Amino acid sequence: MATDRAYDIVLFGATGFTGGLTAEYLARHAPPGLRWAIAGRNPDKLARVRERLVAIEPALVGLPLLTADVTDPASLRAVADEARVVASTVGPYVHHGEPLVAACAAAGTDYLDLAGEPEFVDLMYLRHHAEAVRTGARLVHSCGFDSAPHDLGVWFTIKQLPADVPITVDGYVQAGARFSAGTYHSVLTAFSRTRQASRAARERRAVEPRPADRRVRAGSGRLARSRDLSVWSVPLPTIDPQVVTRSAAARPEYGPDFRYRNFAGMKRLSTVLAAGAGLGALVGLVALPPTRRWLFGRLASGQGPSAERRARSWFRIRFVGTGGDRRVITEVAGGDPGYDETARILGESALCLALDDLPPTSGQVTPVTAMGDALLHRLTSVGLTFRVLDEGGAPS
Ligand SMILES: NC(=O)c1ccc[n+]([C@@H]2O[C@H](COP(=O)([O-])OP(=O)(O)OC[C@H]3O[C@@H](n4cnc5c(N)ncnc54)[C@H](OP(=O)(O)O)[C@@H]3O)[C@@H](O)[C@H]2O)c1
Repeated sequence: MATDRAYDIVLFGATGFTGGLTAEYLARHAPPGLRWAIAGRNPDKLARVRERLVAIEPALVGLPLLTADVTDPASLRAVADEARVVASTVGPYVHHGEPLVAACAAAGTDYLDLAGEPEFVDLMYLRHHAEAVRTGARLVHSCGFDSAPHDLGVWFTIKQLPADVPITVDGYVQAGARFSAGTYHSVLTAFSRTRQASRAARERRAVEPRPADRRVRAGSGRLARSRDLSVWSVPLPTIDPQVVTRSAAARPEYGPDFRYRNFAGMKRLSTVLAAGAGLGALVGLVALPPTRRWLFGRLASGQGPSAERRARSWFRIRFVGTGGDRRVITEVAGGDPGYDETARILGESALCLALDDLPPTSGQVTPVTAMGDALLHRLTSVGLTFRVLDEGGAPS
């Protein structure tokens, strides 16, 4: 790990909605002596963010502000060269993310982001994983609500099950929350690039090694009533199953034959049908240039749910795991998933990479592969809940 750097952590994108919340999180929770800085393309906006941070912690009056723009690779390389860990909230990542990943991979600098965009993650594997392995950089995508709670939740679940037996885990997410402009733009971008995403996934599958002596797969599942949880289970093709199965491929603890399925859990069938119709309409509208332009113009960068709205937001993910003669139900739960919890997860992930004693890894790695128990411990100690709801029953 690089130790001869000016900063332990640089937060890139601190002027945005989620970046601002992450900066506030670090202002409240960074241990004394942590050398950190915020970065962005607009020095005036960065100075205004710092004023907000000084109101939280007066000692941050001298917090360094680094100017860097995605369109200027040299500015990103300068940030990467100065930092041990760079966390980026500059998205949509498929448009803005690659230059910083390239700079961190080349400089041997650990990199974190909030990408929920499978196309971006696959392209970064294809283009920068090998270089990061060579330099020792850890490239950890999806360190927000996508996908740390799912990744760590499954990790927590398999640890309740016997070792060395086939394991299946089904995850059911429920949430009450609103999203920001950045999330909205990233989702629209992903919906408008399904062909490119499939191509990147295919190219990755063709070159990525698989475990030689173990089986790991993501099942698709179908719309059904879950008897275990009394919800309608709706197959949810987010990036979460990809992250979970990559962790499973990397770690023997997931057993000789592991399968994960990802669902939204919905109480009422009418909600399932309304959500399906809404999503279908969005996918249709984003395919046509005039309606796509109109949709993208609906929210401006920097906007997001108010503190009051976030305080009323919540999420819970329940996992039903079976292995051998055991069946267990676990839960990961917290507050506002998209922003308050995401800022907490990204902030703690940055602290974890910078400060904790972790297993040696490099290249593109998942949150569990890079940080596993250390991040689980950190998130539990700052208020995310990981618990066993029901254990020991025989599989139904
Ligand atoms: N994984 C998750 O669960 C999760 C949760 C929340 C957000 N996210 C993702 O995080 C990303 C940010 O969301 P958000 O709501 O915070 O977005 P946002 O408010 O629009 O912030 C975007 C940030 O990107 C910066 N930026 C844009 N172009 C740039 C460039 N050329 N050079 C340098 N910086 C540039 C903006 O800087 P300016 O201020 O100068 O414009 C701003 O700081 C999105 O991709 C979103 O999907 C993921």
